Amino acid sequence: MKDGVSFVVLASDHAGLEMKQRLREALAGWGYRVEDLGPGTADSVDYPDYAEAVALRVGRGQADAGVLVCGTGVGMSISANKFPNVRAALLYDGFTARYSRLHNDANIAVFGARTMSADDAVARLRIFLSEPFEKGRHSRRVDKIGCIEKRLGLPG
Ligand code: RB5
Repeated sequence: MKDGVSFVVLASDHAGLEMKQRLREALAGWGYRVEDLGPGTADSVDYPDYAEAVALRVGRGQADAGVLVCGTGVGMSISANKFPNVRAALLYDGFTARYSRLHNDANIAVFGARTMSADDAVARLRIFLSEPFEKGRHSRRVDKIGCIEKRLGLPG
């Protein structure tokens, strides 16, 4: 995720719909340009479809960062991390929100609407978007993730 995030895309499944709406409002209030990739109703949907929409945008550099919400955050994390250049982190506490940026250069924040409060998710997202990537020795490790993607033949 490049420093100076301004454009954030987000999505959820039905379980994450309400929390996504809360996060979208918080993002707009903090001054980010936000695009909600759905869903727009609480009808049952499949989380991989929405993970893909956000992961493609972030992985292709068409958005600065992404946000995904499902019931536990696990399905969204597994799905999003299939895509090249995506480093999706399930932010289960503030420390993880901070270090997912400092050490992992995470570019998608994932939340579980059934495992954490909306207030906690908002606070963790604020931390996530405020922290820079530390680079240094961490660049070597993150670069190795890209090398794995290349060895697997995934398009960069
Ligand atoms: C939907 O019931 C639930 O399985 C989904 O939101 C998520 O928790 C999957 O990881």
